[in-house]
Amino acid sequence: MNDFLGIAGLEASALERLVEKAAQFKQDRGLHRGALAGRSIGLFFEKPSTRTRVSGEVAAVELGAHPVVLGQQEVGLGAREAVRDVARVLDRYLDLLAMRVFDHGNLIETAEHADAPVVNLLSDLEHPCQAVADLQTIAEHRPVDGAVVAYVGDGNNVCHSLMLGAALLGGEVRVVCPPGFEPLEEFTAAGRGRVTITSDPAAVEGADVVYTDVWASMGQEAEAKERAKAFSGYRVDGRMFALARPDAIFLHCLPAHRGEEVTDEVVDHPRSRVFDQAENRLHSMKAVLLELLG
Ligand code: CP
Ligand code: NVA
Repeated sequence: MNDFLGIAGLEASALERLVEKAAQFKQDRGLHRGALAGRSIGLFFEKPSTRTRVSGEVAAVELGAHPVVLGQQEVGLGAREAVRDVARVLDRYLDLLAMRVFDHGNLIETAEHADAPVVNLLSDLEHPCQAVADLQTIAEHRPVDGAVVAYVGDGNNVCHSLMLGAALLGGEVRVVCPPGFEPLEEFTAAGRGRVTITSDPAAVEGADVVYTDVWASMGQEAEAKERAKAFSGYRVDGRMFALARPDAIFLHCLPAHRGEEVTDEVVDHPRSRVFDQAENRLHSMKAVLLELLG
């Protein structure tokens, strides 16, 4: 692995290694402490973040690396300075560039102009670091191989990475979304025949995992009203969750818009694993950093 821009194009063995390593980090938080001493890691954010920013910084520090956190206000990616120039400059200082961007194309351009590995911390197309934590959380419940994962809601970045990742590890993914909000065709096609798309919420029946994300992602705030109408039948409430297996778990990348895509009853359900999932962002980020720099 040279960069980690997405789950698309990743080998199953590489993804398995990341998920296994993340589980080891959870068992022993001090594992590989100091392994990246002397390295400097850039964490750049073009949009807000709580989990990714904090878990990324803590992961770097616990492995001995020095994190440099940067915001769009200071860098002005593509505005104050051309993307390729920012890439060339940061590459002279940093050993790894992790970036949250609106346009996935900016990650690709950065990777083309920097020798340092580039990590996607969320783009319009993928959220691969989230997917590693998601798969780790599913694996804590049951093997991903053979698991039925029902993703309800917007066919967005989180959905793309989750569906490719779960499919790669042998899961069956049912994406349940209103017409017009399906995942991009190229991602569905890359799902190895293990991904089905439907507009029928009844597809949640028998699922091992029920997953949802916000209806309007960061940058889509102006569409929020219109989207809320389109997604009104796709809220994960107690009734929908009850369609899944009696031992099914609920996942959400967070932040959740309680009362919109999911009810309090489900977020706070005894079988909700959303805070384990959030914790796993730390362990999985360590796995990603070690894989690229170790
Ligand atoms: N799940 C996630 O990426 O959260 P943040 O946007 O808070 O980083
Ligand atoms: N789909 C959401 C995920 C946030 C972690 C967004 O892009 O805003």
